[in-house]
Amino acid sequence: MSEPRSAPEREAILKAPGFCRYSTGHLAVVDWDADTGWSDPRVESWSDLAMDPATLGLHYGQAVFEGLKAFRAEDGSVHLFRPEDHGSRLARSAARLAMAEMPPALFVRACAELVSADEAWVPGGYGQSLYLRPLLIATEPDLGLRPARHYRCVILAYPADPCFGADFRPLSVTTATETVRAVRGGTGESKCAGNYAASLLTRTEAQAAGYDEVLWLDGHERSRIEELSTMNLFLVWRDGEKPRVTTPPCDGTIVRGLTRDSLLTLAEDRGIAAAEEHTTIDAVRDGLRSGRLAEVFACGTAGVVVPVGRIGIGGEDLTVGDGGEGPMTAALRSSLLDVQHRRTPDAHGWLRTVLRADENGGRRA
Ligand SMILES: Cc1ncc(COP(=O)(O)O)c(C=O)c1O
Repeated sequence: MSEPRSAPEREAILKAPGFCRYSTGHLAVVDWDADTGWSDPRVESWSDLAMDPATLGLHYGQAVFEGLKAFRAEDGSVHLFRPEDHGSRLARSAARLAMAEMPPALFVRACAELVSADEAWVPGGYGQSLYLRPLLIATEPDLGLRPARHYRCVILAYPADPCFGADFRPLSVTTATETVRAVRGGTGESKCAGNYAASLLTRTEAQAAGYDEVLWLDGHERSRIEELSTMNLFLVWRDGEKPRVTTPPCDGTIVRGLTRDSLLTLAEDRGIAAAEEHTTIDAVRDGLRSGRLAEVFACGTAGVVVPVGRIGIGGEDLTVGDGGEGPMTAALRSSLLDVQHRRTPDAHGWLRTVLRADENGGRRA
């Protein structure tokens, strides 16, 4: 439930929004019906989703989601970051679950209409954003196991600081020993609700043991590192003349992170050697012991780029570097945020302008 808020209330929230604590009070809604196809997007006041208890999406898990951000530039203009790519990924996630695939252009339109309506909710601080959470769920009531004939996409919006905090405190992670997140041929690459449900038990156990997150290993041999429950992972090697950055490849078991992709591109732009390659957990352990593995960081839309300071591997706790943030992690995060806030040119065409500086009521960052 979200009550409409006054302008002074909103301004107070925008000073320290946290992550997904205060919704803007609006939703964008798009429906799909097997007979009539996709509806136009509409922006509505926040309201409950009324669902029949026999709704297919609730029983068989046809539910996929996205997470993307709108940023304010210093001149006050507002831009969505890579919305077409988020739309394409939502469509791929939907296809894997035999759901209706929303055309990315329609997805972008729905996001842009919501951001326009909620323009006053886009914070201006560096690293802050309006976080959008599109959810696509099967809404047809029936208990027969089959793809639904009705879906609803709702897009929620929240002013946001980075999800692990604006101070980018180093995270601690531990390897999963009993469970796996994904196997080839499964749904690991999709942002489907079930993947997150499947990670919760181990994540909760890790947190009870004093870690922030789980470092998932491959589902067959449990020897190669894959990703965290909500973020991709990068390793920074200092084993030659120049530092080298690596990240596990997208083989169908990890989410194809757009932050990951952006960082690979930005690293290349800056002449930093960057590669997608498998790394075993043994190589991570050896690298940390020898110091050749100098930095580890996690990345995702919600958290941006966050250092990993401690890794639990088979009962042993290893500190990454001195446990703090390394220079490569900080530099790549700034490179990304500088593009997102339009402090540096958008050389790769990642920003979609939703409101120009002269359309936003004079608000500035
Ligand atoms: C499992 C998982 N891996 C990685 C990511 C990072 O993806 P992105 O950078 O597109 O947000 C996410 C977040 O969406 C995720 O849920």
